[in-house]
Amino acid sequence: MSRLIKKILADKLSPEELKEVISGFDVIGDIAILKIPDKLLPKKHLIAETLLENVKSIRCVFRQVSPISGEYRLMELEHLAGEDRTYTEYRESGCRFYVDIAKVYFSPRLSGERLRIANLVKDNEVIVNMFAGVGTFSIIIAKKRKMTKHHAIDINPDAYQLILKNAFLNKVEDRVTAYLGDAGRIIEYQLSGCADRVLMPYPEIAIEYFPFAVKALKDEGGTIHVYLHVKSKPIKEVIDEVLPKLDFGKKFVLEDIGGRVVREVGPKIDQIVLDIKLKALKN
Ligand SMILES: C[S@@+](CC[C@H](N)C(=O)[O-])C[C@H]1O[C@@H](n2cnc3c(N)ncnc32)[C@H](O)[C@@H]1O
Repeated sequence: MSRLIKKILADKLSPEELKEVISGFDVIGDIAILKIPDKLLPKKHLIAETLLENVKSIRCVFRQVSPISGEYRLMELEHLAGEDRTYTEYRESGCRFYVDIAKVYFSPRLSGERLRIANLVKDNEVIVNMFAGVGTFSIIIAKKRKMTKHHAIDINPDAYQLILKNAFLNKVEDRVTAYLGDAGRIIEYQLSGCADRVLMPYPEIAIEYFPFAVKALKDEGGTIHVYLHVKSKPIKEVIDEVLPKLDFGKKFVLEDIGGRVVREVGPKIDQIVLDIKLKALKN
């Protein structure tokens, strides 16, 4: 898609301007979201109209006005062209998702990572997704691996409703249970000791909530996938820095740890994932 956009906008913007627009460009279903640098704001309608006229699959164009913020991880949007609607249907890895970009967090840039995790999962696993958004990780895994069970938690009522809808839409409602509330409290009261695998796809609070992920694991242990934003550096150095901050509790010890860069999220800042395997501490 970005190659197509480059071609379409090539005679409207300088190569430098084009680069900036492309790097902040996302398409979710039939909605395009643009990050437009200040100096290009006078051209925002021209850019949006050009996209709308030339890319058949795009029906609505919005500009991201604010950084992603708040508990629900939302951004402010400005409607630039096409239909003024924020609800759409997005497809990924053979699944369909209803998304409302004004009411819930969603990033298509995690698609590769969602598939990577789905490929690690084995039959009969129970998986807790602590920060589920619209249910993408849980539903993709449930669809791919029929013999798995999923607990998908989100504190945003709109995200919770969309997990329920998306589970039905993909016919995995028998395998995906949605929970509305704080992941820590829900694990504490309903999901302690149930999981083979825990997903923590919310970098800003992952370290603080790590003890709850540990609490969700079965007595024999399991794997926790922790997503973090860190200064770009070799993953070995990241692991050495983060490990002392992770509390494994009294029941578990580290069996294995690996990590990788998921994507670049800013100048010299990466989103990384640590795959942390814990096993029962034998007395
Ligand atoms: C970065 S998004 C998750 C992205 C999602 N996993 C995906 O693949 O698109 C973080 C999510 O965590 C939710 N959230 C924030 N604080 C939470 C908490 N304490 N407990 C549960 N969910 C929380 C937000 O509403 C948001 O949907």
